[in-house]
Amino acid sequence: MRAIISDVHSNIEALHAVMADIATQGAEEILCLGDVVGYGADVEECIDLIEKMTRFCLSGNHDFAVITLPDRFNPLAVEAINYTKHLMKPSALSLGRKRARWHFLEGLPTRQQEGDVLYVHGSPRDDRNEYILESDIVFGNVEKISQVFDMIPRLLFVGHTHVPGVIGTDMTFWHPDDNQSAYTLDPQKRYIVNVGSVGQPRDGDNRSCYLLVDGTRIIYRRVPYDYRQTMAKMARVGPISRDSADRLEYGR
Ligand SMILES: [Fe+2]
Repeated sequence: MRAIISDVHSNIEALHAVMADIATQGAEEILCLGDVVGYGADVEECIDLIEKMTRFCLSGNHDFAVITLPDRFNPLAVEAINYTKHLMKPSALSLGRKRARWHFLEGLPTRQQEGDVLYVHGSPRDDRNEYILESDIVFGNVEKISQVFDMIPRLLFVGHTHVPGVIGTDMTFWHPDDNQSAYTLDPQKRYIVNVGSVGQPRDGDNRSCYLLVDGTRIIYRRVPYDYRQTMAKMARVGPISRDSADRLEYGR
């Protein structure tokens, strides 16, 4: 069994809660689909834990923006990127660990393929940036989703939207909830699976979200954490707007 996490966004309380939950579930390995940083306050703590605990971690659009420049980001995201960059960027006098964290972000791959399973942060059409959305299904954006299916070996795992769910080739979007958190994949069919977000869920549920994969069965886990502590810390950091903190309470 493997655990797949994504979009931690420098939220260490959420990441600790998810790691503790994974430990109770018996997963043999943890994979991370990117956006370790951005939005939150605990940048270095999250990078250290992700580097230590995951078999691989992909590069998300926020990870990349920190080491380059924010492009096509909203103002809330930009101020968090600037804060993260200011905190992380090594100078000539910086010590080893600070340099190592920067190199970690620089060295993240944008995709990983293992057998008939592909992992990217966003979409195989644009690894870091494109969103595969429920609205693509609702509003019949068939061409886009068909193109994505044409580019995947069988299974695709993504993050980026912060909304968990499964898209099938029949153009349906299945959203897990408290009554139904498991889904059995037909080994003969293709799927796009969004694993949700650890550090900033946006499906109206403020609990952290991640995915367990056990053979053909996938199980979404929702993990409560002390988001008030996270919000208070973000307020203390200063440059991060209250809006970025407030959304944690509402899961939006
Ligand atoms: Fe994200």
